[in-house]
Amino acid sequence: MLFSEPPAGYTRCEYHGLHAFKWTGEDGSERYVRYHWLPEDGVATLSREEAKERGRDYLRAELAGRLERGPAAFTLELQVAGEGDDSADPTQEWPADRERVTAGRLELTRIAADQEEGCERLVFDPLRLTDGIEGSADQILNFRPRAYDVSIRRRLKLG
Ligand code: HEM
Repeated sequence: MLFSEPPAGYTRCEYHGLHAFKWTGEDGSERYVRYHWLPEDGVATLSREEAKERGRDYLRAELAGRLERGPAAFTLELQVAGEGDDSADPTQEWPADRERVTAGRLELTRIAADQEEGCERLVFDPLRLTDGIEGSADQILNFRPRAYDVSIRRRLKLG
């Protein structure tokens, strides 16, 4: 994600997914969608000077302080592919006026204990999906699980 100015916090910026996923409705209808996570705290940036003054770990420190004051939440908006939108190419933007549907809400309550220090067991595999959601023909998306599998094995020295 590119910022013209640094974000004021992890919960003060929007997150826009590049990959398209296929969502199947109860009626069997299928749509390709892209995810947009919008912060309930609102978007806020800092000047580059201020970000520098706050130090290298300011985002981590800000998040810890923010969560002490209560949960922080994001709204999940789905951008629905329209006629001619390419679901297989993450480098192609879809028109901004495509239909958007609110599909969920994510509440962050705390930083997980196993993220505090050391090397965690977490794999960031974007193809571990729940029923009704599938990937797309996007080659980058489909390559990622293989790269992450090799990476975590090496990271945890599992051979
Ligand atoms: C749009 C495409 C991609 C996105 C958005 C993306 C995003 C990410 C994210 C968020 C992480 C986790 C970072 C963390 O744990 O803090 C990650 C890890 C990683 N990515 Fe990607 N990635 C993409 C494509 C790729 C591709 C094409 C490759 C390799 C060919 C790759 C190789 C890796 C590796 C090796 C890791 C570390 C995995 C681990 O040890 O758990 N990524 N990526």
